[in-house]
Amino acid sequence: MERTVLGGLSCSDMSKGVGTRHTPMGTRDATGGYDPSGIDLEAWTILEAQLEATIPNYDRVNKLMTFGQDKRWRRNVRNHAAPGMKVLEVGCGPGSFAEDLVGLDVTCLDPSPEMLKVAKKRVDAARASRGEEPAAYVEAIAESIPLEDNTFDMVFCLFSFRDFQDKRKGLEEIYRVLKPGGQLVICDAGKANWFHGLAGRIWMATAVQVLARIVTKDKNHPWKGLANTYSHYGTNGYYRTMIKDVGYQEVQGRLLWPFAMASRFRGTKPEQ
Ligand SMILES: C[S@@+](CC[C@H](N)C(=O)[O-])C[C@H]1O[C@@H](n2cnc3c(N)ncnc32)[C@H](O)[C@@H]1O
Repeated sequence: MERTVLGGLSCSDMSKGVGTRHTPMGTRDATGGYDPSGIDLEAWTILEAQLEATIPNYDRVNKLMTFGQDKRWRRNVRNHAAPGMKVLEVGCGPGSFAEDLVGLDVTCLDPSPEMLKVAKKRVDAARASRGEEPAAYVEAIAESIPLEDNTFDMVFCLFSFRDFQDKRKGLEEIYRVLKPGGQLVICDAGKANWFHGLAGRIWMATAVQVLARIVTKDKNHPWKGLANTYSHYGTNGYYRTMIKDVGYQEVQGRLLWPFAMASRFRGTKPEQ
């Protein structure tokens, strides 16, 4: 791939996992119903395979399960960037967000070579149609970013934070690669509190499953397993505290209306 930074991390590095505080998905009793620390390696490896299996239907199912709101959320996040900024998307997936980053110096990071392959084709085609240089692509996990300190004006994470093995470590690495004064913007499934989380789990276990089955025409579609990541995801308050603990300032994290299906977090790396 042109302008590609491949790794720093080999597949075997990734397979060692990161951090030490993982709770395997499925043992949530001690955490009040969700897994605040992360996802163990075995569960994450299965999750990655499920995410890759979504690629052909990813955008269509997202659109249906969010009543078309995903487009609005992406625009909301994108509007944080100013022209000419150097930006990183962590967990770029098939490029659904990065393809619309206009007038920016873009780096896309994802641990999945399959996702990066699709993203590169799609994002670079969109950039070429606007007369822009190709983006850079990095195969890595958020918890171990093979890039220099103080590099980016802005880091985006859309629907990937939920999938980090170790969320604190990922936030620390993003903090490291942000320039002083740089901003992190995360958008992911919304979970305001336990009750809201229950409503979300019911939605994921029912309507989303039916929609995914209709779109994929496969009763063993990957959204079956993906509902787990929502069940094991923490609340807005939990991650606001974590983001502050890592050192970010001006931390915010709230539901996005009208449907309250997604949350947006923001934090800024202090100017020295
Ligand atoms: C649901 S897709 C999100 C795609 C895209 N950002 C979007 O806006 O739709 C989640 C992506 O996160 C990636 N991912 C999973 N674990 C990750 C980690 N630890 N660090 C970085 N990315 C990760 C997956 O490979 C997958 O491509």
